[in-house]
Amino acid sequence: MIQAFVFDLDGVLTDTAEYHFLAWQQLATQLGIDFSREDNELLKGVDRMGSLELILKLGKVQLSQDEKLKLAAQKNTDYLKLVESMSPADLFPGVLPLFSSLKAAGIKTALASASKNAALVLQKLGIPDLFDYVADSNFIQNGKPDPEIFLTCAKALGIAPERCIGVEDAPAGVTAIKAAGMYALGIGEARALAQADLVIPAVSAINQPLLTRLLTM
Ligand code: G6P
Ligand code: MG
Repeated sequence: MIQAFVFDLDGVLTDTAEYHFLAWQQLATQLGIDFSREDNELLKGVDRMGSLELILKLGKVQLSQDEKLKLAAQKNTDYLKLVESMSPADLFPGVLPLFSSLKAAGIKTALASASKNAALVLQKLGIPDLFDYVADSNFIQNGKPDPEIFLTCAKALGIAPERCIGVEDAPAGVTAIKAAGMYALGIGEARALAQADLVIPAVSAINQPLLTRLLTM
């Protein structure tokens, strides 16, 4: 029986995946690198420096570590400008009802976000205390697709990974969930998330019959 849900944040609970894309695209344009939405799929779930490396590789651009750190900081400033205007209205539909249902069913919840801005985004969304556990990405050695962040959440909740459902919109995130030995619930397009056990278009698609099915697997 399933005992916990471990959620990604950006692109699962709110539309910050789009903000990350817009900020990276701005940076890529400045560097003269073509960067499409399709290219961005590879960056989803990947940490800040890892994402920058992928963009530079795409444009075959080589930079010093110092220049890379400056660009990553610039991207973050641009990203934070977009986050600034966020409010509880930006929480995706269905998230709060889902958490009520999970709580009522005695299911634990955790957040497994690679973002160093996760605490700020939770604050903006008005849900700083929604989870039983929030992983601190500052203490994660290996980013997604490594399973470390999902395993850290399962351990902190005291629940075996096989009894957890991981929820992710990113291919790298789904790989991490599967490597952790959890059931992977993909959010988005089935084509992009082929490794997931089940793909649904949005969290709002988790209705009562589906939730009952997932919890009794
Ligand atoms: C999440 C997003 C990625 C982002 C990463 C780091 O995993 O899906 O797109 O690059 O967090 O975010 P940060 O806010 O720390 O730059
Ligand atoms: Mg995501």
